[in-house]
Amino acid sequence: MSSTTAAPAPGGTTITFHPEFRVGTVDRRLFGSFVEHLGRAVYTGVYEPGHATADDHGFRQDVVELTRELGVSMVRYPGGNFVSNYDWEDGVGPVEDRKPFLDLAWRTVEPNLVGTDEFLQYCERTGIEPMMAVNLGTRGVAAAVGLLEYCNGEAGTRWADMRIANGREKPYGVKLWCLGNEMDGPWQIGHKDAHEYGKLAAEAGKAMKLVDPSIELVACGSSSMYMPTFGEWERTVLSYTYDIVDHISMHAYYEELNGDRASFLGSGTAMDRFVERVVASADAIGAQKRSDKKITISFDEWNVWYLESRFPGEENLPIQRDAPRIIEDVYSGLDAVVVGDLLVTLLNHADRIPVACLAQLVNVIAPIMTEPGGAAWRQTTFHPFAATARLAQGAALDLRVASPSMPTTKHGDVPTVTAAGTVDPGTGAVGLFVTNRTDTEQLVTLRHPGCALRIDGGTAVLADHEGPREGKESAESYVPVEVEAPEHGNGTITLRLAPESWTAFSGAVEAAED
Ligand code: AHR
Repeated sequence: MSSTTAAPAPGGTTITFHPEFRVGTVDRRLFGSFVEHLGRAVYTGVYEPGHATADDHGFRQDVVELTRELGVSMVRYPGGNFVSNYDWEDGVGPVEDRKPFLDLAWRTVEPNLVGTDEFLQYCERTGIEPMMAVNLGTRGVAAAVGLLEYCNGEAGTRWADMRIANGREKPYGVKLWCLGNEMDGPWQIGHKDAHEYGKLAAEAGKAMKLVDPSIELVACGSSSMYMPTFGEWERTVLSYTYDIVDHISMHAYYEELNGDRASFLGSGTAMDRFVERVVASADAIGAQKRSDKKITISFDEWNVWYLESRFPGEENLPIQRDAPRIIEDVYSGLDAVVVGDLLVTLLNHADRIPVACLAQLVNVIAPIMTEPGGAAWRQTTFHPFAATARLAQGAALDLRVASPSMPTTKHGDVPTVTAAGTVDPGTGAVGLFVTNRTDTEQLVTLRHPGCALRIDGGTAVLADHEGPREGKESAESYVPVEVEAPEHGNGTITLRLAPESWTAFSGAVEAAED
């Protein structure tokens, strides 16, 4: 325990904790990530035959080790925008017979060295659950059904037999399927309006569930809350697909623009509002249908991405080949704090968000970077994700956070302190995740009436002011700070939060008090 006597400032933040007040269960698929055929995510990212650490299949084991340390449970594949012009048939069968094609999403020549079998077998070897997407841009129902049958079908039908002929007897049993990607976006190859997409997704989904009723389907929601069609898109798409799909997707990327640090630090609140709006749209359709079913959210792309300030736009990319460097954002301490805070939002909605993917895993807006033929390393954003995946176990708690607010230009007033908590009902282990968005130290009162709570200490990421940390040495010199056990009082604990920080505390519920 800390020996310093701490007294929270009057009007400061109070968090009330009780292990029985729960939001829902933390689904392990909340700690998913994403590998798209984009830039160096696949080639020289996860896959680099000839690399000193590559296994017999050409997959880099230094990246596998870091992926394990990151705690990634699931990986979405093969896109992203890429999937909307991808012919999956080109990526299966003998590698020497596969032909390169020009991917129009990223204007890159795709060599088709890695395809469905290579990806799914990599997932099996590493214990990661795959999440697959079908092409509803340039393809449709038949290609979606064919790919599902190729992956999950038993011997005796065309596509399942093709998989067997390609050397894989046992079906892969892929459970989670995205019905296209960002079909609301004009940049999407095969972009559709909400009626066109809703009808197509309903037909593809219906047919896919006839092939394998055990799968879960994700309909495309809006590609951001700021799309002009947001809201109406969800309403229309779900009016066609409500009874067929299980989840609706959400995508959100945040960045610091024009030095507006406060708005950037408030991104978690924007994400929170986005979730509440999508849930409201889905529930409105459910109510209209008098349905007891609840559509949940697959937040299958979220991250910090300097999209407006650093990305030139796909139409301005030259046609390239050989795994070009595309959107290799370099992250700062501030970015790590925001990533931690976005995880707070995801945990607080555990009842409605069972699936989420940090976009992406390697090299492309990623927590893990590699050099071709060289090292792999952790970016700053690696740390909050790894700590949360490790500590957030069991039930997500309904913490009551009473916090002063701060003004932001982009999101209006946002709380200065945010928090999420978890408890493992089996062991009593507690995870507590707290963000201080202010530029001063905050003393936070953690009340735990009616239960004996112990907080042991934690690990924090700080928004240092060094800016993006380019390269292995600079990125890896950024390490999380150890936080001492806080001062425990009678029914309260005082948490000391560094300025602009995100902290993951561990602890335990010791015994129930009557
Ligand atoms: O993650 C990068 C891109 O962002 C994805 O391909 C697309 O779905 C989104 O716009």
